[in-house]
Amino acid sequence: MHIPGRTFVVSGGCSGLGQACVRLLHNLGGSIAILDLDASKGEQLAQELEQSQRESQGRVKFFEVDVSETESIQHAVRGITEWVKSTGHELGGVIPAAGVGLPGKVLDRSDEPISLDSIDYVLNINLRGTLDLIRQLIPHIAKNKPLSPDLERGVLVLVSSTAAFEGQIGQLAYSASKGALASVTLVLARDLASHGIRCVTIAPSLFETNMTAMMGDKVRKGLESVLEFPKRGGNPEEFASLVREIIENKMLNGTVIRLDGGTRMPSRL
Ligand SMILES: NC(=O)c1ccc[n+]([C@@H]2O[C@H](COP(=O)([O-])OP(=O)(O)OC[C@H]3O[C@@H](n4cnc5c(N)ncnc54)[C@H](O)[C@@H]3O)[C@@H](O)[C@H]2O)c1
Repeated sequence: MHIPGRTFVVSGGCSGLGQACVRLLHNLGGSIAILDLDASKGEQLAQELEQSQRESQGRVKFFEVDVSETESIQHAVRGITEWVKSTGHELGGVIPAAGVGLPGKVLDRSDEPISLDSIDYVLNINLRGTLDLIRQLIPHIAKNKPLSPDLERGVLVLVSSTAAFEGQIGQLAYSASKGALASVTLVLARDLASHGIRCVTIAPSLFETNMTAMMGDKVRKGLESVLEFPKRGGNPEEFASLVREIIENKMLNGTVIRLDGGTRMPSRL
């Protein structure tokens, strides 16, 4: 998929991994629909990118969205499709990067089971929010004029986690959500193959973002001792660089790629 002249939808685009994708794809000539809960950051980022280069004008738009609310996605999708019609830059792909973590052991210190609310909160954003966003955008991508020579129409890049495979203590809901995204990768690729739409999932280990910035010193020290190479968390630009490769390389399909510097997370840090 060529990036210039196509529109990419990035949820969670205001921060961390999503924001790095927004910046890179915009820099490479793509049009970007930024979806996020954080309206002030979103408007600010869109304005900054609009002013970054002369030819940037009209290539970025922010939509305030809560991906756990289907009407909120519906409203944004309506706006995105109108915008795409006006620019002529067809939808090229979706990067559903909105996500949250909420630690909680299945039994807490008082032997109380984890609340269903905390499980629902994580699943509704990470899993249901991802599938709902894809579900609502895919009919529009499937109507794209296919691109020669392979008749490609679009690409989905899902964001899982190494917690899909090595969930740590307290990651019940988070691992459930990320494991499910890894599982549906092949299903989406198979379901959408006849439409010329690919699906690839990235499973990052620790990346330096707002999500991980709150980590205490003890955990960080523990982490450094288990990292293989390099001995640091990934930076969001390294994540975005893999997203670019996935978008541009049509042979990548139906697979989950670990982006983890060889690290296998232990039970606890
Ligand atoms: N940082 C890591 O180490 C790491 C590792 C593996 C996977 N991930 C995954 O990468 C994705 C991005 O995480 P990040 O580290 O960039 O986190 P981040 O906190 O920096 O960014 C997440 C963004 O998602 C937005 N968001 C949260 N809930 C939302 C909702 N309901 N609707 C719309 N937007 C919402 C936030 O406002 C924020 O802008 C997440 O799915 C996360 O699980 C992160």
